[in-house]
Amino acid sequence: MQKQQIRKGFSKLNKEQKIDLTASYFENPAEAARELKSYWHQDAGLQRKLDEFAENTISNFFFPYGIAPNFVINGNMYLVPMVIEESSVIAAASNAAKFWSERGGFHAEVLSMTKIGQVHFVWEGDKDVLSAAMPDIKEKLIIETNPITENMRERGGGIIDIELVDMSDKLDNYFQLKASFETADSMGANFINSCLEEFGELLKRFLKEDKRFTGASEECEIVMAILSNYTPDCLVRTWVECDIEEFGEMDRNMSAVEFVKKFERAVRIAQEDVFRASTHNKGVMNGIDAVVLATGNDFRAIEACAHTYAARNGKYSSLTDISLENGKFRYSLTVPLAIGTVGGLTSLHPLAKFSLELLNNPEAEQLMMIAAACGLANNFSALKSLTTKGIQVGHMKMHLYNILNHIGVTKEEKDHVVDHFKDKKVSFSNVKALVSDLRKGNS
Ligand code: MEV
Repeated sequence: MQKQQIRKGFSKLNKEQKIDLTASYFENPAEAARELKSYWHQDAGLQRKLDEFAENTISNFFFPYGIAPNFVINGNMYLVPMVIEESSVIAAASNAAKFWSERGGFHAEVLSMTKIGQVHFVWEGDKDVLSAAMPDIKEKLIIETNPITENMRERGGGIIDIELVDMSDKLDNYFQLKASFETADSMGANFINSCLEEFGELLKRFLKEDKRFTGASEECEIVMAILSNYTPDCLVRTWVECDIEEFGEMDRNMSAVEFVKKFERAVRIAQEDVFRASTHNKGVMNGIDAVVLATGNDFRAIEACAHTYAARNGKYSSLTDISLENGKFRYSLTVPLAIGTVGGLTSLHPLAKFSLELLNNPEAEQLMMIAAACGLANNFSALKSLTTKGIQVGHMKMHLYNILNHIGVTKEEKDHVVDHFKDKKVSFSNVKALVSDLRKGNS
């Protein structure tokens, strides 16, 4: 069958036509179309809703939705929903959650909830006059955006501040209005962007009409108005602590002190070395992203922000910190997390809604603490494994199921192989050889 040409107007095709066109890129288009449709939700109304989340939707892409139990955070017990495709992550979070649930659980606090947006503009006029007029400009922007902010103000949020940033030493005539916002329990992207676009219009008008600027031939050019995903002041900290002697049974070959010293060294390495820091923080984000996804939040925003924050001192470094003092092990994670529990997909996506219900419909602050605790849990488990038995034993055990699914085995073969590898090293070739032996009747 001939591949249908992608032409202008793919978005104008109806869903069936989009599927046909896509399927024509396969050897068996009918089979490809059937496969795409096999992942549709059986509830047509819900499928329509899912379709409308994004453009040109032709199917759904499934990810595992799992639970990490036993998360005690500030004394409350949670079953934490996690959406993640990587084996071992939920197991790692669960192990750490259980371990710390017997040692006071995770402690967490939200340090601040402020979000940032910017109007980037070019202005050739007198910057001292502009700077002197800023209090009036700010007042005008706040008053004139009252209709946009009314609802948010009723929910306890709104515009916190607007300042002029002069960056004309970096780029000719470049300035910003840098605004800070509180967005209550929502992530607030739409609210912030609406305010910012309005600020841009109002600023232009102000500079045209105010007598301090009239007569000036310079036009203010608004380059763009958009929130910043870097929210260093939407910050959460979580930590665990216990007596060092509690680690006595962590590894047969190490005393508690040896273990915590090795663990500390691993953290210091991530603080000093960029290559290790990236992987270390990836382990943190395994937990955070999984909760962010399960609750319908924007994981790209969270990723962008976390890594920017990790480089805030001019060098990319670990998001976690450790102290070993007075016989106490204290391990902490500080990370900006601009996530919400209302708005966006949080109530539109049925499983995001389910996740929030499971978490007892938390406020944004509580969700920040839960996601952060999950991040610290994943990182703690990773470092614990890396500094003792290594990561591959556990990882490959979980990966065994993927290998078996890849090879394609019967239930009996699966049971046999899983049992066989209980106390042995898993590798793709070892598993393949065993399955082959089984089939030849050699095992
Ligand atoms: C794998 O997804 C995450 C780890 O590499 C994290 C780490 O090395 O700390 C295990």
